[in-house]
Amino acid sequence: MSSSPATFTVPRGMRDFYPEEMADRNRLFGAWRTAAERFGFLPYDAPIVEHLDLLKRKSGEDIVKQIYAFQDKSGRDLALRPEMTPSLARMVAARQGSLTFPLKWYTIAQCFRYERTTRGRKREHYQWNLDIIGEASTAAEAEVIAAAVEGLALAGLTSADFTVFYNSRRLLADLLASLEIPPELHAGTFLALDKKGKVSDAELEGILCDAGHSQDQCRAVFRLVDVADIEQAAAMLPGDSDSVVELLGFRDRLADYGLADAVKFDIGVVRGLAYYTGIVFEAFDTDREFRAIFGGGRYDDLLGELGSKPQTGVGLGFGDVVVGELLEHLDRRSGDAARADVAVGYMQDAQRGAAIRLATALREEGQKVDLALAAEKAKRFFGRVGDGAFTEAIYIGPDDLEAGRVRVKNLTTREERELPLT
Ligand code: HAM
Repeated sequence: MSSSPATFTVPRGMRDFYPEEMADRNRLFGAWRTAAERFGFLPYDAPIVEHLDLLKRKSGEDIVKQIYAFQDKSGRDLALRPEMTPSLARMVAARQGSLTFPLKWYTIAQCFRYERTTRGRKREHYQWNLDIIGEASTAAEAEVIAAAVEGLALAGLTSADFTVFYNSRRLLADLLASLEIPPELHAGTFLALDKKGKVSDAELEGILCDAGHSQDQCRAVFRLVDVADIEQAAAMLPGDSDSVVELLGFRDRLADYGLADAVKFDIGVVRGLAYYTGIVFEAFDTDREFRAIFGGGRYDDLLGELGSKPQTGVGLGFGDVVVGELLEHLDRRSGDAARADVAVGYMQDAQRGAAIRLATALREEGQKVDLALAAEKAKRFFGRVGDGAFTEAIYIGPDDLEAGRVRVKNLTTREERELPLT
């Protein structure tokens, strides 16, 4: 055995949260919860451990490679959840007969993905999920996007800092059909298109050819991403296609929410997950320096494919990593949170009992009190508590015990007031 003790660092791609980081995290979670509740979403939760089969069935090719999978002691195939949507679908399917639809639920879920860690990507992250199950119209997409934008605002970002881009897989399917690309190639084409800009065009062509496209079809797919707006897409389709009508209606709804400038059409948004069926969207910082802040879309087949009654779904996942990097970049981190309202210290052991009784009384009033764990000199006490973490300080010495009162010092204004010791 080695004589020197081992030192451990946090496992690769995972994070420790020291109190300063915890202050930022709590502020973000608070923004997420407030926004969800302002929009009438109800909270739910599920275990971090999920059935591997459920995740494999519906999470898309990329995610399967990224799963932390294991067997329990009875040989069950399980995994740490890489996302929440399969668990949500499982929960809704299990109570489909008794739930009232449309339902609007939210959660803040820790998710694990075994991916290469880069800027914006960790092997563990917290993800705010907003989902609406049982609403077929684009009212659902508009509502979840508006709630997410509210979350961004409460987290400290303005509409000048980000844009939400949307597209429609139904529109893409119509466009692919008009290019005579058969439906069986559409799913593979979506996943390939999602790689555009992330891999070189040559690699993308390889992916498309592997998916079964001819050279001509590849060229046609590449031309698609040059489509600038909904009208241009509509002009490529015969007659009024349902996908175009839906997108135009969606655009009007966004305008009603006051989101016409914050949310824009972009044919390049496809999303990497296989289960999306309709409108898909992703939010990016204005300078496009970071990865997607949040992403989501419509998944109308997921519940049916998990064996329950077919049910429509729309939702999004909004991770804590990218928004944290963006806030840091914009110098808008929350800074350290106040530790307590009052710090109580004392000069000698003889005043310890009075200090404990005073702290107890203040805590009973609902104040946050940090009580010194040992006697200390006044200089040390005021040096320790004067770092902005406390509003007021009470330092008890022998004279205070005799006088039966203490002085409460406001650490910002330096004003003092007296408080009886009893
Ligand atoms: P996703 O695009 O895979 O979608 O993830 C959503 C968001 O989670 C991303 O935009 C990003 O903020 C964050 N995220 C994902 N992976 C990581 C990672 N490795 N490190 C840091 N942050 C990450 C979904 O997961 C869908 N289930 C969202 C959804 C809910 N769709 C419908 N309902």
